Amino acid sequence: MTSPFIAVPALPADADPREATGRPVRWGVVATGSIAATVTADLALLPDAVLQAVSSRDAGRAQAFAEQFGFASWYADGDGGTGLDQLLADPEVEAVYVATPHAQHAAVVRAALTAGKHVLCEKPLTINAREAREVAELARDRGLFLMEAVWTRFLPAFQRAMAIAASGEIGTVQWVAAEVGFPAPADPTARIWARADGGGSLLDLAVYPLLWAWGTLGRPAEVTAVGTLNGEGVDAQAALSLQWPTCAQAQLTTSLLARSPHTALVCGTDGWIRTTGEHAVYRPTRLDVQAGEGPLRTEEFPLIGSGYPWELREATRCIQAGLTESPTMPVADTVATMELLDGVRRQLGVSYPNDEV
Ligand SMILES: NC(=O)c1ccc[n+]([C@@H]2O[C@H](COP(=O)([O-])OP(=O)(O)OC[C@H]3O[C@@H](n4cnc5c(N)ncnc54)[C@H](OP(=O)(O)O)[C@@H]3O)[C@@H](O)[C@H]2O)c1
Repeated sequence: MTSPFIAVPALPADADPREATGRPVRWGVVATGSIAATVTADLALLPDAVLQAVSSRDAGRAQAFAEQFGFASWYADGDGGTGLDQLLADPEVEAVYVATPHAQHAAVVRAALTAGKHVLCEKPLTINAREAREVAELARDRGLFLMEAVWTRFLPAFQRAMAIAASGEIGTVQWVAAEVGFPAPADPTARIWARADGGGSLLDLAVYPLLWAWGTLGRPAEVTAVGTLNGEGVDAQAALSLQWPTCAQAQLTTSLLARSPHTALVCGTDGWIRTTGEHAVYRPTRLDVQAGEGPLRTEEFPLIGSGYPWELREATRCIQAGLTESPTMPVADTVATMELLDGVRRQLGVSYPNDEV
């Protein structure tokens, strides 16, 4: 049995995500920052992904990025308009990958959909649920593909953990504990701390521990949270307690202050599943499974590239098949997650300029 809460990807778990699933899809990449480079390197591993164009606010960065990865075109802010507008006006670009800070996501996604492009956008899709519902409606109206880049959903180890939990091998899931923490750079202007950029631990990180709880127990009925805010009013740490009507519970922690082991633990009435190791909560490659009184079992999973080829395969496959959403990462799940995070932010007293309408 598989998770009733997260659909299994179309690609079989042991298939290589680098294998083409159809015609070439011509991608435009928006921004040249850290994750843009990591994901573009993985996109280049897909033979049916064409690196068509990249846009930046800065010509030097756009050109260097284009040369590094072999994009056909690059665009930057200048006399011809913004790099983004020029990329969106390029008829050769049919899908865009958005890798700007969160606060710009909604505006960039809206512009891309309006220009007729399919969209894969970094997490969080938007700053709040209102923005998420707006872009979801626009994508539906235009008949275009839209997906939040929650890559962990597509990783074989995560999917396997969901299948084990759903199979009953560890009994009925009663408790999930998951955490992600790293000491963010002290630079107060870094996007991760900046209120204007949607900074804070929640919007950057909560999606990952939440996945383990959501995937095994579904949407929680109640969420209570405590957090520590910095001088700008963004959360440096947050702890979430989730409750389900079945009595199941989860404790999730995100931190920009502490270096943590990135563990996810799913406990049932007859055993548990744990993932540990560097980046395990978002890039698991190993599961420890304790079922009943039996021996501890360890399952290992290969990593390809930096782990993004699976989500890139899904976005590419969906676009090739004319789908407007991924069944494994549906837009409704993104909206529901943003609603949950909106509620947590209200409890913590964290608000952003995007919240003001
Ligand atoms: N899926 C993952 O594993 C993962 C990992 C890290 C981050 N992310 C997500 O990806 C997004 C970007 O994160 P990042 O770590 O790559 O950030 P980053 O290194 O700061 O890069 C962001 C880029 O966005 C562009 N940009 C456009 N408007 C901007 C503005 N007003 N202020 C600053 N930069 C602006 C800049 O590129 P130009 O100068 O070229 O315009 C900048 O380099 C975030 O939403 C984050 O949550 C996802």
